[in-house]
Amino acid sequence: MCGIIGCVAEEPVAALLLDGLVRVEYRGYDSAGMATISRGKLGVKKGVGRVKDIEEARKMSAMSGTVGMAHTRWATHGGVTNANAHPHASCKEQVAVIHNGIIENYIPLKKALIAKGHRFKSETDTEVISHIVEDEYKRTKNPLRATQAAVKKLKGQYAIVVMFQDRPDVMTGARKDAPLIVGVGKGKMFLASDVLAFIGHTDRTIFLDNYEVVQITKEEVKIIGPDGREVRRDPNQVAWELSDVTKSDYAHYTLKEINEQPKTIVAASVQDPYKVAEFARAIKRAKSLFITASGTSYHAGLLMKFRLSKEARIRADVVVAGELKEHTEFLGKGSVVVALSQSGETADVMEAVREAKKHGAKAYSIVNAAGSSLARESDVTLLLNCGPEVGVAATKSFTAQVVVANLVVDAVLGKKKPDRLEELSEAVADALKCDGQVQELVREYRDRPDFYFVARGYESPVAMEGALKLKELSYIHAEGMPASELKHGTLALIEKGTPVVFINPSGPNHAESLSNAEELSARGADVIGISDVRDQVYKHYIQIPKVSPKSTPIVEAIPLQLLAYRMSVAKRNDPDYPRNLAKSVTVK
Ligand code: AGP
Repeated sequence: MCGIIGCVAEEPVAALLLDGLVRVEYRGYDSAGMATISRGKLGVKKGVGRVKDIEEARKMSAMSGTVGMAHTRWATHGGVTNANAHPHASCKEQVAVIHNGIIENYIPLKKALIAKGHRFKSETDTEVISHIVEDEYKRTKNPLRATQAAVKKLKGQYAIVVMFQDRPDVMTGARKDAPLIVGVGKGKMFLASDVLAFIGHTDRTIFLDNYEVVQITKEEVKIIGPDGREVRRDPNQVAWELSDVTKSDYAHYTLKEINEQPKTIVAASVQDPYKVAEFARAIKRAKSLFITASGTSYHAGLLMKFRLSKEARIRADVVVAGELKEHTEFLGKGSVVVALSQSGETADVMEAVREAKKHGAKAYSIVNAAGSSLARESDVTLLLNCGPEVGVAATKSFTAQVVVANLVVDAVLGKKKPDRLEELSEAVADALKCDGQVQELVREYRDRPDFYFVARGYESPVAMEGALKLKELSYIHAEGMPASELKHGTLALIEKGTPVVFINPSGPNHAESLSNAEELSARGADVIGISDVRDQVYKHYIQIPKVSPKSTPIVEAIPLQLLAYRMSVAKRNDPDYPRNLAKSVTVK
């Protein structure tokens, strides 16, 4: 979940490291640090908080040296302290390491190192790596071989970057189940957890595979595979559009990304028809079909399942990615697993897909990040094409997932006529006009401790998504559920003025849902209706445009995203960087 960037260049690297650090900060942001080697001496600066707030960060940009590394942390082992922030230097400060992942066997490793006389300065799992590399470097006198030998001792997940005080010309790295990417520039070479970290300098990238170890100089890349042999791999060009990760005139990335949706849903619909057909064929032929994802992507998966069973009469099990390994009885040769993920790096999703493949299943994915682990390990991938999503809350990626999932289901159904995406795009633009109304709701309900989101049928996952958005951005307790479930327990929590967001578009479930809304209102709830038809039961009503049933979740998601965003701002939270969370959840 941490952001890492390292660079070897012919010019000082501190400024570009700091710039890269801010770009990967969405991955984790409780502390940050940087190390460079200057005049044969390793220098490390770190601090607690967001990069912009860290006192030491101002000094980081002035650090000299043409080799350096930087890190933003999402704490796993050890509290959020200066000592636990990365980089971590070895005892003699000859080696420095930054790491993303979890070293599962760090306790026995640490004990053995202490017994050998190593002194530890932090409570992290990461620090063992710098001490092991130090020992191996003493033995091998070779940075690459020392890194190779060190990672053989590690269990768990890691993407690491290592610097050696007496070798300012090189930097090494290694990965297992966490992303590490080489950026091939002119006179500068990068190692980073994300293309965004260096895209301002080069669009030429090499994605490393699991168990590979790499060494970079300012001009060369050397990759060694798990069998000890050198791996030759040419750089790929990634889209320069990735470099457009500014907030433009918006106060936050989240608001910008919400407002991009009239465009991104159109971009998501541009897919290679042959790939979509192949995806659909696999679904139709599957002996057993699983859909797996986490968080918001899971909600998009639930929507996909609904259409597959109701319209195509194809049975699919939707399983939260972190739980798929508990449901392997029906996974085997001929099974298909469809994985949805914005980042393509979510550890739970990766584990689920690898587990399914181990059982003989084929993996089909819907992913935003091209070149991500999920995209590379899937048999077929459809990309969301919605551009980088920086805000921790998934917004535009959710609606793009619904568009792509709909394309696949339409292909399963043999539907030939393309959708009129311009109309849907206009409808999304219309839905965005509710922002003023949403702000009034926020003024009225900002101090309420609980919110409920309810809906029926196909819209139920949208209710769950509304609750998830509100929780993560505003820190208000929220629950999303099918309206039918209310009377089985939750009604007991409804009291005078409890806000209940009721998603209720016209359609077969409309009348039944209105009865549930009446029941809520009779018990004192303030029912906030989100629908294309007004009703007197709604204390507040947000009108959404009428679109085709399969696309209705897209327009319904807009007021829910705005509600979460505006509530977050009203409560003086940072909507882009909600507490305790990170954008890319690369640990289990
Ligand atoms: C959504 O707002 C969350 N930040 C989170 O639930 C997210 O959707 C989840 O972690 C899955 O991420 P992915 O789509 O990158 O796999």
